[in-house]
This record gives sequence, C-alpha cells and structure tokens, in this order.
Amino acid sequence: MTKRVAILISGGGSNMVSLVDSMTGDHPARPAVVLANSAGAGGLAKAQARGVATGVVDHRDFKGDREAFEKAIISAIDPYQPDILCLAGFMRILTPVFIDAFKGRMLNIHPSLLPKYRGLNTHARAIEAGDSEAGCTVHEVTPELDDGPILGQARVPILPDDTPETLAARVLIQEHKLYPAVLQRFAQGDRTAINL
Ligand code: GRF
Repeated sequence: MTKRVAILISGGGSNMVSLVDSMTGDHPARPAVVLANSAGAGGLAKAQARGVATGVVDHRDFKGDREAFEKAIISAIDPYQPDILCLAGFMRILTPVFIDAFKGRMLNIHPSLLPKYRGLNTHARAIEAGDSEAGCTVHEVTPELDDGPILGQARVPILPDDTPETLAARVLIQEHKLYPAVLQRFAQGDRTAINL
C-alpha cells in the first residue's frame, strides 16, 4: 500500500523538493501535502509547481499557544491522511503531544552528525571545534530535540578555509541524497541505518 507523506517546511524547501522528486515509479510513497508555518515560505511555490497540495498554518496567529498551533497543523494535514510526516527545514519546536500523535512515523533531517551539535548553528560550531568532518542526520522524531533513533547519516570533510556558509552548502548536497534514500527505506518498514 502506497504510503502518504506530509512534509512540513519553513523556508525554501530544498529538502522537500528532493523528497517530492524522489517519490516516483515503484517508490513505496507519494507526497500528500506540503505544509508551511508561513505563507512566505519559498517551498510552497515549488510544491505547487510539482502538483502537490499545500497548506499554511502560521505560528504567529497563535501567539505562543503551541497546543493550538499544533492542533491547527493536524487539522490541516488530517484530510490528506498522512502515514509519514517529514520535517524538512521546519524550524518550530514541536511538543510531546504532537510528537506522540505521530510516534514512530515522523522523520527530521538535522545538519550535523548527531549526537554532536543538537540545536542551531551546527556548522559554525563544528568549524569552531576544529572538527575534520561534518554532515547531516535523518532521525525519527522523539520528544527530546534532535535525539531520536538515527536512520541515516552522510559525512563531508571540513576544509581549512570553510565558512559556515560553504560548509552548509556542501552538507546540503548530501542532505538531498540522504533524506530520499532514508524515506524510501522507511516507507518499506525498513529502519536499517543508511550511511553515505
Ligand atoms: C537545511 O540545512 C536542513 O538541514 C535544515 O534546514 C536547512 C534548510 O532546509 N533542517 P531546506 O532547504 O528548507 O530544505
């Protein structure tokens, strides 16, 4: 049975595009809806251009009431009956209530080699620490931020003249390969970790 995937974005949605473009042919999943927390998210137009339904639930309309914001997200995506939720550049922290509603079927991509560098500014922190490599991780989402079971990682070298921006660009190329590979395997019920 083809799995239906809801993708949550906040910005340009380059990871969402990679996921949507990968779900073709005999892929076990298809994109059902792309939801953004801002009408200004550039990814919305990219999803629409690909014929994917979109929605917006602006967190600013809920003035810090996380529960109401998350209830509105669920109301917006429920009609599409998603089996899997992919966070792709989604920059809002979700409460355990929401995470429990999608327990075991919500993925996120984080731009570091977890468990190193949970949270923000991952590339600057890796450079600052003098690390020789960086990368990205796809993991199941659990109530602890950036902490769930790891489903895949991809590594890149950190070069001597790297800035956070040049490193981010190198990692992003790997994100666009890793996330679709993990989703295809996950949609078949296979949680074996992928290492690129
Ligand atoms: C990416 O670095 C991703 O790892 C992080 O958000 C950034 C932008 O992602 N979660 P996208 O281009 O909006 O998919």
